[in-house]
Formats: sequence, C-alpha cells, structure tokens
Amino acid sequence: MKTKKTTAGENANGNPETEILIKGLHKSFDSKHVLKGVDLDIQRNSIVAIVGGSGCGKTVLLNHILGLLEPDKGHVLVSDHDKDGEPLVDLADLDENQMANIHMHWGVVFQNNALFSGSVYDNIALWLSETRNMEIEEIEPIARKVLDAVSLSSDQDFLDLDVHDLSGGMAKRLAVARALAMNPQVIFYDEPTTGLDPTSAAQIHDLIVTTHEELMEKGDSRTTLIITHDKDLLNRMRPRTVMMHEGEIFFDGSLEKFEKSKSPYIRPYFDIMPILHGGRKPLAD
Ligand SMILES: Nc1ncnc2c1ncn2[C@@H]1O[C@H](COP(=O)(O)OP(=O)(O)O)[C@@H](O)[C@H]1O
Ligand SMILES: [Mg+2]
Repeated sequence: MKTKKTTAGENANGNPETEILIKGLHKSFDSKHVLKGVDLDIQRNSIVAIVGGSGCGKTVLLNHILGLLEPDKGHVLVSDHDKDGEPLVDLADLDENQMANIHMHWGVVFQNNALFSGSVYDNIALWLSETRNMEIEEIEPIARKVLDAVSLSSDQDFLDLDVHDLSGGMAKRLAVARALAMNPQVIFYDEPTTGLDPTSAAQIHDLIVTTHEELMEKGDSRTTLIITHDKDLLNRMRPRTVMMHEGEIFFDGSLEKFEKSKSPYIRPYFDIMPILHGGRKPLAD
C-alpha cells in the first residue's frame, strides 16, 4: 500500500528532525496479534530506549524498522541520509537497492548477534565490502579499530579466528564491533548487554554512550535506539523511555518519570527487569 510522503516539516510534533516515524503499525503471526497499532517518532540525535516484558513485540517492531518484516497495516517512514532535508521515505515504497542505500547509514546489533559463519574478520568485512565496495587494505584498519573499541584483540590470530570458537560475551562484543565498523548515523541495539558479566556490560555501556556522542561532536547526527532490560544502561544514558506492553506503546517519556510511575504494569516490570537482563548466560570469556 502506498502512502503520501510526509515532509520532515509536517510530521510528528511538527519537529523537522525526525529520523524514524512509525504510524499505526499492526502485525499478526497466524492468529497472534503482536503489534496492535504502534505509533512512534524518533528524533535525530536522540537516544531512545524501548523496554517491556519478553514477548511484547520489541524485536518484531525493530524488524519492521529494518524492513525485515512487512506490516499488515501501518507504515514505517525513515530519513534518507543521502538526501538530507528531503521528505521521509516510506519503506513500503522502496525497492531492494533503495533499501540498501538506507541501510548504508545504519548499524544493527541483533539480539542473537546474528554472526555469519566464518572468521572474525569476515564478519566485520562483509557489510563493508558489500555495501561500500571496500577492499581489504581499507577494511583491516577499520576492523582493528572497532575490535580495540570493544576490548577484543585486534591481532591477526584473532582476526582469523572462527566465530564458532568465541565465547558468548566475545560474540556479543564482535556484534557491536561489526555495527560500529559501518560508522552508522543510526544505530540499533537489541538487548546488547543481556547475559553479559558486569564488567563486559559496563564496557558496552560506555561504548554505546561514546559512540552516540562521537559523530555529534563532529557536528554530524547520530541516533541511537536500544532495546534493553538493563537498569544500569538506562541509568547511564537517562534516555527517553518507551515501554511496550501487549503490542502497544504503554509509556513514552523520561526515564525519571518511568522510574517514578506507580502503574500496575510498570512496577512489576521493574521488579522483573534484572531477571530478564540476566537472560541467556554467555559462556565464560
Ligand atoms: N516470525 C515469527 N513467527 C511467529 N511468531 C513470532 C515471530 N516473530 C515473533 N513472534 C512472536 O511475536 C511475539 C513478540 O516477539 P518479540 O518481538 O520477539 O518479543 P520481544 O519483545 O521479547 O522482543 C512473541 O510472542 C513471538 O513468539
Ligand atoms: Mg526481543
């Protein structure tokens, strides 16, 4: 279904700086209605955290933004960083090449890491060579830089290591490094610290915050969207917090307001957050 394009000036809240605009999104799998009319606007340069109990639809929402799932109803509109100042584009109107051009400016850390089989180097190199046509001479320094950033070894033996030989914590860090290698203007993290030990988690917290600020310090924009149950990460970022509940946006506001809420849905979620965050335990590093 096609929709009228929305100019940046006329979209949500009259804010001309919208990065992503989600309108009336519905998705069912068989008879299970997972997204029940999600509306959300994400501003450029902002950090937004999406929280909510397991199975409430957070990853399904992200997969719609990434164009990996098609909505039953509703629209996802995004900023095209190749055409700054132009109207937002509706993902439903894009062909494969146009979608790939949008993705050039995005980095994603998937919930299950989604590493490709092959070496550490292959994982960092694939997107760079496919989407940016980079050669090994260009890719190697980037690979070493991002591996350093996530506190993984950047020596040749490690670059050559098969990803199946990585521990859970290392695989998660590689997934973050791979996203950073794209130097993206929009970065998505789906539970980037779930199951990590506290030291690794704290390193990832720092990295998420410094990564967010890095491009902005150079006067460019960077937008960060994080799905998380990690209270320490939320505290570190103090983000706009969006809580999903049963396929709808149940809360959208400051972390401070969220923390103070007496809602009978938010309080129990708070109590269970550390358990959800503990989640799947990685193998020891
Ligand atoms: N491809 C799929 N096919 C069928 N059901 C799915 C699929 N993807 C997600 N679901 C269901 O949608 C619901 C929301 O899933 P998800 O977005 O992954 O939850 P979470 O909020 O924990 O990320 C779950 O009940 C899940 O089982
Ligand atoms: Mg999920």
